[in-house]
Amino acid sequence: MVDAPKIPRLVALVSGKGGSGKTMIAATIAYVLDYFVPCILVDADTGTAGLTYYLGIKHIENFTAGLLDKSAAEPPLQRIKGFEKGLFLGIGDHRRLERNRKEFVIAEALRDRISDLRKFESWVIVDCRGGIDDDSLGVCGAVDDIILVVEGDTTSFQATQHVVEKLADHGLAIKIKGFVLNKMIDDPTILARSATSVLRTQYLGAIPFDIDAVRAFIVGEIPELESVFGAHVASAFSRAYPGVLPPARVPRVWSPQEFRSAGLRDPRSTQGGLVAAAALLVLGTVIARAEFTFSEVTREVYRALVGAAFLVGLAGALEPTRRLIGQVFQSYLDSSLRLMQIFTRSRTRYRE
Ligand SMILES: Nc1ncnc2c1ncn2[C@@H]1O[C@H](COP(=O)(O)OP(=O)(O)O)[C@@H](O)[C@H]1O
Ligand SMILES: [Mg+2]
Repeated sequence: MVDAPKIPRLVALVSGKGGSGKTMIAATIAYVLDYFVPCILVDADTGTAGLTYYLGIKHIENFTAGLLDKSAAEPPLQRIKGFEKGLFLGIGDHRRLERNRKEFVIAEALRDRISDLRKFESWVIVDCRGGIDDDSLGVCGAVDDIILVVEGDTTSFQATQHVVEKLADHGLAIKIKGFVLNKMIDDPTILARSATSVLRTQYLGAIPFDIDAVRAFIVGEIPELESVFGAHVASAFSRAYPGVLPPARVPRVWSPQEFRSAGLRDPRSTQGGLVAAAALLVLGTVIARAEFTFSEVTREVYRALVGAAFLVGLAGALEPTRRLIGQVFQSYLDSSLRLMQIFTRSRTRYRE
């Protein structure tokens, strides 16, 4: 077994563009680590304070105490509800900071105050602002390691390349620990391979597009270790830092092929599958009854029924046809509803 790093690391999550999942991943890493090691979760997003607002829904009390408070002698760490020991350090009043940018060099303050956190001898997980500006460079200057979060689209890919170049220009590329592919709806193998060569760093893992993660985000919940999102985050973290999480506790992750199912959560597809199943049930019943009364049913009709059942089964098994069935069924439902409304309205008018 590989030994866990003896000294806790300061880790920044960085991405080429906003919305790639840094905030959710940072919170989930901290939540998962919290079972095993002391950990401080830091919001260093001077632009949107995403982590502060996310945790603000359910997990923290104080929105305004922050990393860049000039008056505080000690960093205003606060407890995170639902965590064992994990602590949170917010960004504070980021709108006021933005207005006073001229008088206060935020990038330098971020670098110094994040470096100060070393004295707590905890793991420090820092959620950065999207893109790579001076603020994020300040954070990257302070931490030990940088984890890149990349989405599967071309923009995110290009933007990440830009981040790597910018980090290299500042002598910080050496800190890049690896990259994570997030919101994958297809087999990530090819993308992972090309990103490894383009970004020149190791592939830590992929996280599927997970509708439950979106839901959790909206209501301010942090995905559990056992959830799809949590399991994939824990696995990617363990690839970066083997031995910190007990290997037995890292849940199984999806095979590359299984990622395809993440794209099939279209409700029309589910509806189509249900319609196909119902049609098969009806056809199956008819065929079974026809077998009993075989003499009365001509061979052709029997064969046609079996053929139809096969076709319905096939249509229900394939994603595009299943979705099409769902779509047709939905429009049928919609138009029937509309007809019923027109019908009832005209009847009321007639009575009046
Ligand atoms: N694997 C995922 N599957 C589905 N949605 C995701 C995933 N990761 C993040 N999201 C969603 O993407 C949005 C942006 O995430 P966030 O963590 O705020 O990104 P960032 O901090 O990089 O701007 C949120 O709605 C979040 O729920
Ligand atoms: Mg964010």
